[in-house]
Parts: sequence; C-alpha cells; structure tokens
Amino acid sequence: MEKRNQSAVMGFILLGFPGNQYLQISLFVLFLFTYILTVLGNVTIITLVANHRCLHTPMYCFLCNLSFLEIWYTTACVPKALAIFLGKSKAISFIGCFLQMYFIFSLGCTEYFLLSIMAYDRYLAICYPLHYSTIMNSTLSAQLALSSWVCGFLVISVLASLISRLSFCGPNVINNFFCEIDSWIVLSCTDTSIIQILAFIISIVVILGSCVITLLSYIYITSTILRIPSARGRQRAFSTCSSHLVVVLLWYRSTIFLFVKPSARNSLELTKIVNILNTVVTPLLNPFIYALRNREVKEAMQNTLFGT
Ligand SMILES: *[C@@H]1O[C@H](CO)[C@@H](O)[C@H](O)[C@H]1NC(C)=O
Repeated sequence: MEKRNQSAVMGFILLGFPGNQYLQISLFVLFLFTYILTVLGNVTIITLVANHRCLHTPMYCFLCNLSFLEIWYTTACVPKALAIFLGKSKAISFIGCFLQMYFIFSLGCTEYFLLSIMAYDRYLAICYPLHYSTIMNSTLSAQLALSSWVCGFLVISVLASLISRLSFCGPNVINNFFCEIDSWIVLSCTDTSIIQILAFIISIVVILGSCVITLLSYIYITSTILRIPSARGRQRAFSTCSSHLVVVLLWYRSTIFLFVKPSARNSLELTKIVNILNTVVTPLLNPFIYALRNREVKEAMQNTLFGT
C-alpha cells in the first residue's frame, strides 16, 4: 500500500460512543449534569476548607488539593466529550489532543501521589497521635503536596516529549471520547517501542509505588486501631480515615479494570466505560464522600448555610 503523505493527517477524529441521536443527547445531558455537579461539589469543599479555621488541618488541605485536581481532571476531558455528543466537532487538532492527553495523565499521576500522601498522613495521625502535629507541620504538608504536583507533571513530561516526536500518516480515528497515550501509540507510523516500554515502566512505578505506600499505611493503621481497647475509641479512630479509604478504593478499582482487560481489541467498549468511571464519576463522588462522612465538614457546611 502506498504510504500517504504525512501532511494529509491534520489531526484526529474522536469517535465518542456509537449510537443514534437520542443516545447522544442522553449522554450529553448526563455528562453535562455530572460535570456541573462535580465542579460545584469540589468548589464547595475548597471554599469550606478555606473559610473554616477548624478545617485548616493537613488532612483537609490535602483534600483541597484533591478537589482542585478533580476539577481540572474532569475539565480536561468532559467539555470536548460534550461537543462530540452534540455532533459539533469530532475533529481535534494534534496540539489539542496532545495537551488533553498531557493534562489528563499528569493529573492522574498527581492523584496517585496525593492519595498515597493522604494515606501517610492518616498513618501518622492514627499511629503517632502525640507527635502528629509536630511531624506533619505546615512546612512538611506543603512540601508533600507541592512535590506530588511537580512529580506528577514531570513524569508525564518525559513521556510527552517522546510522543511529540511521533509522526502520523495513516488512519486518524480514535475510538474514545478523549485523547490518551494509547491512541497516540496505536495510530503512529513511527516505531513506538521505546515509548511503550517507558509508559509501562512509568505506570508500574507510579501505580505500584503509591499502592504500596497506601497499603502499608493502612496495614499499620488497622493494627493500631485493633489494639485500641474501647469500641468507641476504635470507631473514632476509624472514622478519621474511612472517607479516604473509600476514595482510594474507588480510584484503584478503576485502575485495576484498565490493566486487567481480557484482550486489547475486544474490550474497547469496556475500556470506554471504565474511562467514564475514572474521569467523570470518581471526581463527582469524592466531595460527597467527604461531605457525608466527616462531622467537621458537615458542621462547616451547616455553619455556612444556616449561620449556626
Ligand atoms: C495543597 O496543600 C498544601 C499543603 O497542605 C496547601 O498549603 C495548599 O494551599 C493546597 N493547595 C490547594 C490548591 O488546595
């Protein structure tokens, strides 16, 4: 087959979901509704934490970081998906697709780091309650938060710089509703083996690394909680980390789905659904989990709403 001129490919086409007009409109309404709720929920958490002195603890500062991240994470993905569902513009330029991929993956990486830092924070709070405030002071918490952002973006920058050198000469259709690293690898007509190896190493290091930190923290937390003599004390200690645990389980559940897939080709539709969970549903749930499970957040919210 003749090799088409590279300049023939000006950008990519995002397929979105197959289906008739009604499905597209339903998806549009669903995504729009979820998106608005997500932004509102996360903005609420940030405003509550900023305006209440009792929430000025490392745990809630990290939560603020997480909410801030979730807002950008869904914003990187949902508005373009909305345009696709409306049938407006399935085309996306190279630079648009590149930036979308870069932000979604950098923010995803940062989320792994933030969640493991939050687990470490809970470990210190529960296992070393007397020394907690001296160890996790404002300097350390700011350094940890900042480093998770810097590392998240740095790690993906390495990969992105390699991806930016790929050339494209063939099919340019991406069967998804946003650009991801896989689509660049699949569609490129240059050799991508180095990128694939690097992407694999990065995902193993980031996911396994943060998973180990989180798991170890929770093993120590559990053994400490089990040694608390009174049932009431056990419950109190557990309640301070239960929201984080739920958020972690939600986040890792979608990760596991993305890695343990039966076969790359057949599971494209499944992958898309898992992507929805990851990029649309999880960011929506986090603020509600924290708001509903934590007494301090509930009190701050009542305080704001009713001035009591
Ligand atoms: C992130 O966390 C750090 C340290 O706890 C805090 O100083 C900073 O204000 C937070 N940033 C955001 C955007 O929430």
